[in-house]
Amino acid sequence: MEQSIEIYIKNLVRDAISHTLSGLELQHDRKTYVIGNWKMNNMVAEAAEFFHDLKSNKNVSVVICPPTQLLYPAHLLIKQSGKPIALGSQNVHWADQGAYTGETSTSMLLDVGCEYVIIGHSERRQYAGEDDQLVNKKVKQALKTGLTPIICIGETLEEKNSRQTERVLTTQLFGALKDVSSSEVIIAYEPVWAIGTGQSATADSAQQTHAYIRSVLKQILGPQAVGISILYGGSANESNAADYCVMPDIDGVLVGGASLKAQSFDGIINVFAKGEKSK
Ligand code: PGA
Repeated sequence: MEQSIEIYIKNLVRDAISHTLSGLELQHDRKTYVIGNWKMNNMVAEAAEFFHDLKSNKNVSVVICPPTQLLYPAHLLIKQSGKPIALGSQNVHWADQGAYTGETSTSMLLDVGCEYVIIGHSERRQYAGEDDQLVNKKVKQALKTGLTPIICIGETLEEKNSRQTERVLTTQLFGALKDVSSSEVIIAYEPVWAIGTGQSATADSAQQTHAYIRSVLKQILGPQAVGISILYGGSANESNAADYCVMPDIDGVLVGGASLKAQSFDGIINVFAKGEKSK
């Protein structure tokens, strides 16, 4: 009898603590990222010039994702420069190794100095037929091997116009994070209609969508979701960076076109570095 009272009290205390925790906004300490996605652009000589010229800034986490053939040269160039720049891949395979012609494994990426990997970019969804199930396999493989996945989600223009944005993002998030319990992920909200078009989302609408994304992340991962960095992507540049930077749920940007040249990329990095300092 005594023992069962003890268990009863223990359970009561445990339930009370978990109830309180789930209602609490855990103190967040989110990292700010400025990430460059070079897509299928740049050669060795251009990469050398870029890393020579880029100033970078230690107040934000700067990540460059070059095409696969440039990963190792980029790793060496970054090391040589001594600048605070991390390396990421634009894609990865879900298997450990084996007969997968043309693919790259997570251990290969780690071997050439990668710490991050972009997964589920809309161009891979569109041109390489990647779906949420495949994205999920890649996310799990990245997490298993210690790479940080940068998971891209976003609605098409048609979906936006038919007011499907929230439904699409919810499906993509639940799909990408199925059976995932780690919050060691980065989410990039990239509306497809804004990528490479010069038609960036307004900072207000991006903020609203980011807040929605965070609410979905909380449903999936619980209170720890408050620590996940959510980046905006889609025609982000030096001129609009400051608008995104001040938004409470926008923790940085994923940049395509404006990341190809050191000067424009540094411009964006500086905006977010200043924002970090004034927080
Ligand atoms: P963009 O590309 O900045 O050229 O629009 C962003 C991305 O696709 O990540």
